[in-house]
Amino acid sequence: MCGIVAVIGTRDAAPLLLDGLRQLEYRGYDSAGVATVEAGGLTCVRAEGKLLNLTARVEREGAPGHCGIGHTRWATHGKPEERNAHPHLDAGREVAVVQNGIIENHRLLREQLQAEGVQFLSDTDTEVIPHLLSKELKALTAAGAAATGATLLLALQRTLPQLEGAYALAVLWAQCPEALVVARKQAPLLIGFGEGEFICASDTPALAGVTRTILPLEDGEVALLGPLGIELYNAAGERQQRLPTQLKGTDHVADKRSFRHFMLKEIHEQPETAARWLARHFPEGGPDDPLVALPVEAALLEGLQRIQVLACGTSRHAALVGAYLLEQLAGVPTSVYYASEFRYGPPPLGPDTLTVGVTQSGETADTLAALAMEQQRRADHGDPAYRARLLGITNRPESSLGRLVPQLIDIEAGVEVGVAATKTFLGQLLAFYGLAIRLAELRGSRSRSELHGLVAQLRALPAQLQTLIDRLDLRCAALAHEFADTQDVIYLGRGINYPIALEGALKLKEISYIHAEGYPAGEMKHGPIALLDARVPVVSVAMPGRVFDKVLSNAQEAKARDARLIGVAPEGPDTEIFDVLLPVPVVDELLSPLLTLIPMQLLSYHIAAHRGLDVDQPRNLAKSVTVE
Ligand code: AGP
Repeated sequence: MCGIVAVIGTRDAAPLLLDGLRQLEYRGYDSAGVATVEAGGLTCVRAEGKLLNLTARVEREGAPGHCGIGHTRWATHGKPEERNAHPHLDAGREVAVVQNGIIENHRLLREQLQAEGVQFLSDTDTEVIPHLLSKELKALTAAGAAATGATLLLALQRTLPQLEGAYALAVLWAQCPEALVVARKQAPLLIGFGEGEFICASDTPALAGVTRTILPLEDGEVALLGPLGIELYNAAGERQQRLPTQLKGTDHVADKRSFRHFMLKEIHEQPETAARWLARHFPEGGPDDPLVALPVEAALLEGLQRIQVLACGTSRHAALVGAYLLEQLAGVPTSVYYASEFRYGPPPLGPDTLTVGVTQSGETADTLAALAMEQQRRADHGDPAYRARLLGITNRPESSLGRLVPQLIDIEAGVEVGVAATKTFLGQLLAFYGLAIRLAELRGSRSRSELHGLVAQLRALPAQLQTLIDRLDLRCAALAHEFADTQDVIYLGRGINYPIALEGALKLKEISYIHAEGYPAGEMKHGPIALLDARVPVVSVAMPGRVFDKVLSNAQEAKARDARLIGVAPEGPDTEIFDVLLPVPVVDELLSPLLTLIPMQLLSYHIAAHRGLDVDQPRNLAKSVTVE
């Protein structure tokens, strides 16, 4: 959570910092701040709320200097108030720090500093850092060290071992306007090489406007940045030499085009997302060519006894659809875990297990920590059958996930700005279809002609998605009016569409703040049915296949309790029981989640937009959840 930016060069730093922060606002947006330094000293400007507030304040008050740091916050320690906004300063206002992460031993450090007479102005964990740095700088200068970047670097290298936790941070020192220092430990940080300037940020979109030449910092590294060059050191203080790499094409935040919100634009981009992925991974080939082209080595998939998938939120819902496919198509027992639960209660080790981490951002701390733990406990096991077979599914191959796992499926959905995942969910689903069909092909669990049939149907997906979006957009907008006073909604689905009910409920909760729950339709009668009355609409996903009749019966049970029934189902006599129908064409049941997700996304979007809510940046959330 939180985004940091730092720049040093020959241009005014403040506009660059604000541009960078705008690209990182998806990481948190409850307050923001910048600090700049020049010969006259340090300027710090902060504001509660969205970045617009900070921008207005910087325009009014000014923030001079060619060297600066910036931060956009998602509150962990301390309420979203200006006094808790970064940068944080030492008592003498000489040292400014921005940080993304959590300093786990901050309480102890705070008590020690308070015992030495330091007064804290915020409730944050970060504020201990400028005070510690200030102590180190005072000790170094008292011992004769000059006010140089080298001294600032040494102070940071002496401070970091005192910090426990995960962080990416950037530091300015009023006495040395021609240097800044940065460090990372288990939180992302990249340096961009611009023309006559260096820019450092939590994520690539903040760099893409300045340069495409980047150097991701490795865990434990610190860097000293000056206008003319950088010095990189590892945690042991040894100088590192590494060549930068080039950013790939799409790492910048596009504009909304004519759409009211990024979320709506991203929903509309899904036919294109699907077309791109299918063209690349399901190429038309001869009858004996592999059906799926995936960048996954056969050795990773051979002889599998079990698959476990670790993910959070929407990514977990994609994993649940994936598990259904992996079991039903490829015949491999598959379990899906909340990444945040897995780490502290993993299942007993079994041999020949593939562990898949799914995270669109590639930065979700829970997922990364669970994967790292799994990798370690398998490495600790002597028997080679228990070795870690790790695979990542992500939209950000250059992320921390990309560095953690040896093999990755890139969903290539393009930058997703809306905090509510839409096109990345579709991309994750497609990755699972690819993986399951590939495994079914390798294991011979389904006939080749059956798999060919599925792939042929998949190729029709982009056109089906386009028709569905065009057809349902206005219908969902009209339906949204009915939800003006709704407080609870129940989503029902079964089989492969149960995760789509979960996803529909999550989408509604996170952007409209309406309480919603997803249930397997058959489970409703075991308790949740008590919630139903005329004030609680029920959205039911009923697609022809194994459980069609069952879901329709469950919907009838809800109707008998006066619930208003909204069907996500094909048109026809069977589905006339629904009060409102959001029609979805009939496809093979196994492929149906790729279509039923659309009404879920559009309905939640229009309900939230109709309520006048901030759809792209809902309260309390962030796009990338980098704290545990
Ligand atoms: C999705 O709409 C949510 N914002 C959230 O549940 C998200 O899916 C979750 O935080 C996991 O993110 P990840 O895919 O980047 O790991």
